[in-house]
Amino acid sequence: MDRLPTLRTERLVLRWIEERDAPALREVFGDPEVVRYWSAPPLPDDAAAVELVAEIQLLFRQRTLFQWGIVRAEDDQFLGTATLWRWDVAHRRAEVGFALGRKSWGKGYMAETLTGLFRCAFDDWELHRIEADTDPRNHRSLSVLERMGFRREGYMRERFHVGGEIQDSVVLGLLRSDWADRFTGRR
Ligand SMILES: CC(C)(COP(=O)(O)OP(=O)(O)OC[C@H]1O[C@@H](n2cnc3c(N)ncnc32)[C@H](O)[C@@H]1OP(=O)(O)O)[C@@H](O)C(=O)NCCC(=O)NCCS
Repeated sequence: MDRLPTLRTERLVLRWIEERDAPALREVFGDPEVVRYWSAPPLPDDAAAVELVAEIQLLFRQRTLFQWGIVRAEDDQFLGTATLWRWDVAHRRAEVGFALGRKSWGKGYMAETLTGLFRCAFDDWELHRIEADTDPRNHRSLSVLERMGFRREGYMRERFHVGGEIQDSVVLGLLRSDWADRFTGRR
């Protein structure tokens, strides 16, 4: 696999991120509101976004981070990204991360993205467990994770130092069996 597989959902395509996506990445990750609860500060300029694309591609080649661009199927408009990283192949688990540009919030795009991504992760790649962590104040993130079936498993105090602030983390987990249960109606 020399690049990520393309995944399709009803309205979206999850695809390999290219250098031409740098301005759109900057729009998403340069917005202080989007990265309010992120573990890094906003992207300062387009040059930083070009560097980010190169880093995303390098980390994929090293098989440590898989970050897809989320684009609208009808016109390839770049909406955000979804990531599986912190891979532990021996224990069949990885961590998920995601962000959408602000204009794309509230349309069900992330739930649709994660449904497509987890189908691939659990069914094709046979992951056993997907983990997530988020700031307890990040209600939108907690809401989409819990709608996907994630359960809150822990709470870590003062875990991230971002922009002069110390943030706590809620730790969540989704098992392959939790995921399967959603489709057989047992939960
Ligand atoms: C977290 C984030 C991705 C959630 O995006 P989102 O669009 O709110 O999430 P969803 O895809 O689940 O959409 C749910 C909303 O879409 C609405 N919606 C509209 N059409 C819909 C449809 N066809 N299907 C489902 N929901 C739909 C729902 O009613 C809900 O609205 P509400 O938030 O006003 O209640 C987004 O807020 C974000 O990028 N935040 C910044 C980055 C971040 O914090 N990432 C997580 C770090 S851990």
